[in-house]
Amino acid sequence: MEAAATLPLLLLLLLAAALPAPSHGWGVDGHLMVCQIAQGRLSGAAAAAVRDLLPSYAGNNLSSLCSWADDVKFRYPWSSPLHYIDTPDGLCNYSYDRDCKDEDGVKGRCVAGAINNYTTQLLTYGRSSAPQYNLTQALLFLSHFIGDIHQPLHVGFTSDRGGNTIDVHWYTRKTVLHHVWDANIIQTAEDDFYGDGVADYVDTLTKNITGEWSEQVPSWEECGKNQTACPDIYASESITAACDWAYKGVDQDSTLEDAYFSTRLPVVNLRLAQGGVRLAATLNRIFG
Ligand SMILES: *[C@@H]1O[C@H](CO)[C@@H](O)[C@H](O)[C@H]1NC(C)=O
Ligand SMILES: *[C@@H]1O[C@H](CO)[C@@H](O)[C@H](O)[C@H]1NC(C)=O
Ligand SMILES: *[C@@H]1O[C@H](CO)[C@@H](O)[C@H](O)[C@H]1NC(C)=O
Ligand SMILES: *[C@@H]1O[C@H](CO)[C@@H](O)[C@H](O)[C@H]1NC(C)=O
Ligand SMILES: *[C@@H]1O[C@H](CO)[C@@H](O)[C@H](O)[C@H]1NC(C)=O
Ligand SMILES: *[C@@H]1O[C@H](CO)[C@@H](O)[C@H](O)[C@H]1NC(C)=O
Repeated sequence: MEAAATLPLLLLLLLAAALPAPSHGWGVDGHLMVCQIAQGRLSGAAAAAVRDLLPSYAGNNLSSLCSWADDVKFRYPWSSPLHYIDTPDGLCNYSYDRDCKDEDGVKGRCVAGAINNYTTQLLTYGRSSAPQYNLTQALLFLSHFIGDIHQPLHVGFTSDRGGNTIDVHWYTRKTVLHHVWDANIIQTAEDDFYGDGVADYVDTLTKNITGEWSEQVPSWEECGKNQTACPDIYASESITAACDWAYKGVDQDSTLEDAYFSTRLPVVNLRLAQGGVRLAATLNRIFG
């Protein structure tokens, strides 16, 4: 009797242990990679400012707090529209004046406006003994939003909310297209190529930044004369990549597997690398 009753429970426990850990993407792992790449490229002055601004419990590790902005979406509901940009359906281009607004049409309330906002706040660092804004939060928001603006579907079409209303199967698993780009592509790459940690993945991206991609890197870091941050460039690249790669060939209820994964992974890798390089370049410009 007893054995018969405990057996199903035991089986359940065994099954639960065998299930893969919950996946995290530009939610957690993608942001972690962007911030880890960035922190390795900071100038002395920027590294000192980041060390000063991070809360002590972060142990001078920016990447440990790069998802903080997602964690506070409910505590700070005003910050939700600052993670993305909705562009007109089917146009595949972006304009700050036309597109950077929230659902109520309030101008500047999008990820590009937020990057400008928190860059401006951080430029006051060290200039005033009683800063007007919480610069720790400014650093954490900026670090997160420079990651988000590089995720192609964070600059997507309005009516499908950046792929959030497009149901797809990622291999056998039901999800939405937005989540494929936030999480599934990165997760599948980790499972297939990088053991189970992001450390190897970051290592490979970092090697390509100083190797394969080294000739392009200075052009990634470039920003208009006298500009500290260039979110409009990154947003335009993202909507182009969304049209050329993310939306392309995908319909409601499409099944996406190897052919999609292998052709889109290089795009994800490039965007993660560009996000990291540009976050560092922005912080280096801000802190001198
Ligand atoms: C920084 O934090 C991240 C996320 O918690 C972790 O994966 C990484 O190993 C940490 N890096 C160091 C140098 O401790
Ligand atoms: C976007 O594309 C449309 C259609 O090609 C064009 O009419 C419009 O001028 C473009 N807008 C921007 C900001 O590039
Ligand atoms: C700018 O930052 C302040 C402080 O966090 C915030 O209240 C405001 O909503 C932000 N605006 C934008 C557009 O990011
Ligand atoms: C600034 O924000 C951080 C993170 O939310 C918080 O821990 C800290 O207490 C804030 N600092 C001030 C002076 O309010
Ligand atoms: C690094 O570059 C090599 C050679 O181009 C490429 O095969 C590989 O996929 C790249 N890896 C990453 C993570 O970008
Ligand atoms: C750069 O910006 C500063 C401050 O806004 C301004 O004083 C300076 O003239 C600008 N320089 C150029 C080359 O535009």
